[in-house]
Amino acid sequence: MISAFAPGKCILFGEHAVVFGHPAVAVAVDHGVTVSVSESKDWVLEGKPFLKDRHPHISHILENVFQYDGTPLCIDIESSLFSAAGMGSSAALSNALAAAIQCHLKPDEPLDGIKLARIAHSAEASAQKGRASPTDTATSALGGCIVVSDTQVDGTRHIFDTELDTPEGKRHWSVSAVDIPEDLEQSWLVIGYTGEGSSTGSMVAKVADLVSKNPEKMGDLESIGKITKAGLTALSAGNLEALGMAMDACHHKLQSLEVSSNKLDMLVLAARPHSLGAKLTGAGGGGCMVALTTDPKRTSEAIEVAGGIPMISKLGSEGVRIT
Ligand code: MEV
Repeated sequence: MISAFAPGKCILFGEHAVVFGHPAVAVAVDHGVTVSVSESKDWVLEGKPFLKDRHPHISHILENVFQYDGTPLCIDIESSLFSAAGMGSSAALSNALAAAIQCHLKPDEPLDGIKLARIAHSAEASAQKGRASPTDTATSALGGCIVVSDTQVDGTRHIFDTELDTPEGKRHWSVSAVDIPEDLEQSWLVIGYTGEGSSTGSMVAKVADLVSKNPEKMGDLESIGKITKAGLTALSAGNLEALGMAMDACHHKLQSLEVSSNKLDMLVLAARPHSLGAKLTGAGGGGCMVALTTDPKRTSEAIEVAGGIPMISKLGSEGVRIT
């Protein structure tokens, strides 16, 4: 049996705007998805017959990427992420599955994070009707802190470029990394789950629709791009206060794009007095918010009292790996 683990991600800045080419900053979290594969008589997923049409990410990776025609596999998935909640669980699943299949087919070939990031991005794009930035998939594959933008952002280390034909036209992204300074080691992320699932594909389509009917909303996407750059400068300098302020500002713009919800706003407000900054993270509509804090226990309690489910993580865990 081969098992691979891939971390989930938390977007600090730039969700939604990144689909339009603006920058986004994401960190890998301590929690993630483990996929185990073993040869079997029939195709089995989680103890049940594997039905291809119900699992677009898995079928895309097996058929379109690896053109797998070997012995049927028994696939097991274990996740410590909230699913359909903006934590990149489908990206982590795609990365862990692709790593496990690659290791099953070519046990001597070392994992290539960039290749896995590209594979997982193609799986996300095929499952999200062509609208997916490489943010979730690259962060889960490479780990650490990842910046995704249409052109490389100053002060980042370039890793690879990628492009995609989306319903809104061709998009090009530059994927880079940033080292997390030691000053940030005294801070934690507390992710707060609303308990309400949300579909990334439909939230991304909702923003595309809002912007096409209200072209002035492009201004919010541009503002998110500016806030993201300011947040990145604060992060690189280890300036926790400025980092938190940029997170608050980003949440305000995401509210204007109508991707927040009452529950997300409640959890953000509950966390703020105990944190440096708080915002929704990921696609919104439900899912999770995130607070940056030096007192993770207090922040978790505040989120819990407001009806959320907290999860604590350091910033920037390691990327996909065979376990
Ligand atoms: C989802 O985690 C982040 C979005 O920006 C979508 C994407 O980047 O593909 C909403």
